[in-house]
Amino acid sequence: MFKSLPEPWRIKMVEPIRMTTKDQRKHALIEAGLNPFLLKAEDVFIDLLTDSGTGAMSDRQWANLFLGDESYAGSKSYYQLSQVVKTIFDFQYTIPVHQGRGAEQILFPVLIELAKEKGVTEPVFLSNHHFETAQAHIELSGARAKNCICSASLQTEIADDWKGNFDLNELAKEIKNNKKNIVAIIITITCNSVGGQPASMENIRAAARMAHDSGILVIIDAARFSENAYFIKHREREFFDQTIPEIVKEMFSEADIFTMSAKKDGMVNIGGLCCFRNDEFLFKQTQLRCVPMEGFVTYGGLAGRDMAAMAIGLQEALNEDHLRSRIAQVEYLGNKLQQAGISIQTPVGGHAVYVNARKILPDIKSENFPALVLCNALYLEGGVRSVEIGSLIMGRNPITGKQEPSLFEFMRLAIPRRTYTDNHMSYVADSLIEVVKNADRLKPLEFEYEPKILRLFTSRFREIER
Ligand SMILES: Cc1ncc(COP(=O)(O)O)c(C=O)c1O
Repeated sequence: MFKSLPEPWRIKMVEPIRMTTKDQRKHALIEAGLNPFLLKAEDVFIDLLTDSGTGAMSDRQWANLFLGDESYAGSKSYYQLSQVVKTIFDFQYTIPVHQGRGAEQILFPVLIELAKEKGVTEPVFLSNHHFETAQAHIELSGARAKNCICSASLQTEIADDWKGNFDLNELAKEIKNNKKNIVAIIITITCNSVGGQPASMENIRAAARMAHDSGILVIIDAARFSENAYFIKHREREFFDQTIPEIVKEMFSEADIFTMSAKKDGMVNIGGLCCFRNDEFLFKQTQLRCVPMEGFVTYGGLAGRDMAAMAIGLQEALNEDHLRSRIAQVEYLGNKLQQAGISIQTPVGGHAVYVNARKILPDIKSENFPALVLCNALYLEGGVRSVEIGSLIMGRNPITGKQEPSLFEFMRLAIPRRTYTDNHMSYVADSLIEVVKNADRLKPLEFEYEPKILRLFTSRFREIER
């Protein structure tokens, strides 16, 4: 008989969370301008806004935190972290940064400047899907970010194991037509923007080899590297018998550089990495930018204790029991919603359940933000906070001022690592099922205040009649 396996940890410390009344939540949401980002965290019962920096650290991480070396230069914790990076990824050169976007802000301008020095006039980066901060830093540095997204990821209800894959035909076409302008390809694992979906080893290899054959750099955006490795182990025959550390090494053997938000699989509350396999020149050029932007090259915006915690977190991320229980929890929530007939991105990805708001609220137009309407309704119903991944995040075309069409209208329920139990997930599912039953009563939204950029974070809204 199948025996269900519990989490591979027990709880040593608890943090109380506060249930509020519906009236209190209504008041809090109005104060927040109907934008969940503007809610006070203490008014949230279960916070699924993000899995970034919101997980629980282990006793070993807390213990090593106390051993952190706070020296300004040459910290022992930096050398410990670099050694862990060498062991896990086989990358020689490590720059710590305050978080993932710290790596993006020091690396991309260097690559673009060097490309321009070599005569590139219209620099472009290609990705299975750029994460939004990667795209922002590429564009801020004067280059273009183009996605070669696989078509399966657009069909939310069709189960496909590898919705995070590159469309290799598209990639080949771009390389053939525009080789001289391509600065790098960025392989985002797992691919957050299409639902935390994995890329297969076959696809990673093929994309990387296509790039390398044309002399193009390969970068991995590695925020959820171990979740991707777990999916490879369970879905790709060649890897059924390999360990997670072996698969991680194999994935990274295809890359020249990786950037990482360590707030995800690195299991720290703050931190990131920018690492180079063996290109000492690029490493040194990027270090030069690190100093004014992030801090001296052996701390990069982090306290010594943060690097110490990251060194342990990266190793714990490889633990297969941890990965199994984490991904099983995402599946648990996804299954409950699917059983109630709620449309989600299938199969569920590694860190979140993406609910298809377009299907639930078909008559609310994109410019009235159906996924945000759903997020607010879920908060009102159960005090659960989630986030819109759709037209609001997409923004307006800078030239025409028109709302950009969004491929998806998702409500994302991101699950922090080692933080909530399956009981919490059952409660989230029950709350959402209740919301969906009365979906026809939900009202569209329009802006009360719309900032020019990054609208998701500070916009304010009002309800309008259908
Ligand atoms: C794939 C990916 N890359 C980069 C980042 C940016 O990292 P950070 O939030 O640590 O700056 C994120 C954050 O969510 C991400 O998911």
